[in-house]
Amino acid sequence: MQVPDMMEAKKRTKDNNTEFIYVDPMKNNKYLDKKYYIRTYGCQMNVHDSEEIAGILENLGFVPTEEMEDADLILLNTCAIRENAHDKVFGFLGRCKHIKEKINKDLIICLCGCMAQEKSVVDEIMNNHKYIDLVFGTHNIHELPEYLLNLKGKLDIEVKSNDENVYEIGEEFVRASKYSAWVNIMYGCDKFCTYCIVPYTRGKERSRKSSDILKEVCKLKQLGYKEVTLLGQNVNAYGRDRDDEISFAKLLEETAKTGIERIRFVTSHPWNFTDEMIDIIAKYDNIMPYIHLPLQSGSDKILKLMGRRYTKEEYIELFNKIKDKVKNASITTDIIVGFPGETEEDFEETLDVVNKCKYDGAFTFIFSPRVGTPAASMKDDTPLSVKEDRLHRLNELINKYSNESNSKYLGQKVKVLLTDYSDRDKFKLAGYTETMKLVNVECDESLLGEIVEVTITDTKSFSMDGKVE
Ligand code: 5AD
Ligand code: SF4
Repeated sequence: MQVPDMMEAKKRTKDNNTEFIYVDPMKNNKYLDKKYYIRTYGCQMNVHDSEEIAGILENLGFVPTEEMEDADLILLNTCAIRENAHDKVFGFLGRCKHIKEKINKDLIICLCGCMAQEKSVVDEIMNNHKYIDLVFGTHNIHELPEYLLNLKGKLDIEVKSNDENVYEIGEEFVRASKYSAWVNIMYGCDKFCTYCIVPYTRGKERSRKSSDILKEVCKLKQLGYKEVTLLGQNVNAYGRDRDDEISFAKLLEETAKTGIERIRFVTSHPWNFTDEMIDIIAKYDNIMPYIHLPLQSGSDKILKLMGRRYTKEEYIELFNKIKDKVKNASITTDIIVGFPGETEEDFEETLDVVNKCKYDGAFTFIFSPRVGTPAASMKDDTPLSVKEDRLHRLNELINKYSNESNSKYLGQKVKVLLTDYSDRDKFKLAGYTETMKLVNVECDESLLGEIVEVTITDTKSFSMDGKVE
């Protein structure tokens, strides 16, 4: 049994002690033909971790099921970024408990991901949710086979608080798409923005070896993947934790040289977004002209309280530089309203940035205090109704600009990678433009997995319609 500790999670050593541990996949038939069901909450990092977990489960003999009632093992991969994620997970656990009591008393229930790294969550589970079999954290996914092979029919908690190492589990992912793949380039975050729990739940910044990353990209290309998305909490920091590694700009360039058709990356912090990065994005046609550039707030006072390391002016300058150099760049953002101490004037500064940047889209949130982060103990006397009103006003403005940006595409021809059947219409395919706009396309289904030229016939706030001529 190992339980999480926020003080441990916060520690950052100056030494560069990263070890690269190549884990042999453990094959075992103990769970032959048993069914697994995974429910994932949260960011792309979690989605990709679930692909890795699915690979591990299949090596142990499990097969997937779409119906949780049929499952022998249900695994929840959780997110801790805002409080509402917590409520959803405990609601879902209630359904799992019901299945274990009424349908399958041998059901194995596992909880992992960022919430497992929170001491308060683990305490709550130990006190009130003993029907759960296994809780493990973000640092020890590679140990899942041992935990599962040694289950004793009672709650087992296995959560490390931090880790210096990078674990390479090899080609063991069960990837959700055959055409577009996630590729981790680094783990953790050392930025410690004052509202954010990620540096505690994901630990210190650790970069993978560029040689391992490039090998993975080449393998994906060989398998027929058309697109890779390089993943990190803050990709600009790639390689900075090591003396012997290349910068993110160079890594992008090397990835471009593999010749894979499309390269994307998330997320970029505006701080340390170098000119070299911008030049390389502009230079290579296979690096997509799409950047997610979180603003969080437009007020210098609030940015400082958030620990974001840039001012409104510096952000806008960077934004304009990217727009000037990268042809047709589309830029989206994240914004938090109602941070402690945010006044109407501060909020208007945020609206001012939105009016200047006219984003292609944005994810917007009301500040959610996370236990153990500095912002959770800052004085916050803005009523929720005022915060909700700000969110509403912000969303109206964001929608106006995303509508405007989409409507410019009407009648244009764009390249779309068709990755799925459309959610809206089973007879259409769906995919993204180079600029990350979702398009539902009228075309022959044999085009699934292809990059095709599409004429845009209609545009909305969040998607567009098109057809292949
Ligand atoms: N409250 C509200 N939003 C948050 N985010 C991160 N932490 C919090 C929080 N405590 C938002 C940020 C980040 C996005 C992934 O989630 O905008 O960029
Ligand atoms: Fe959280 Fe800031 Fe790190 Fe992003 S950069 S994960 S917001 S601490």
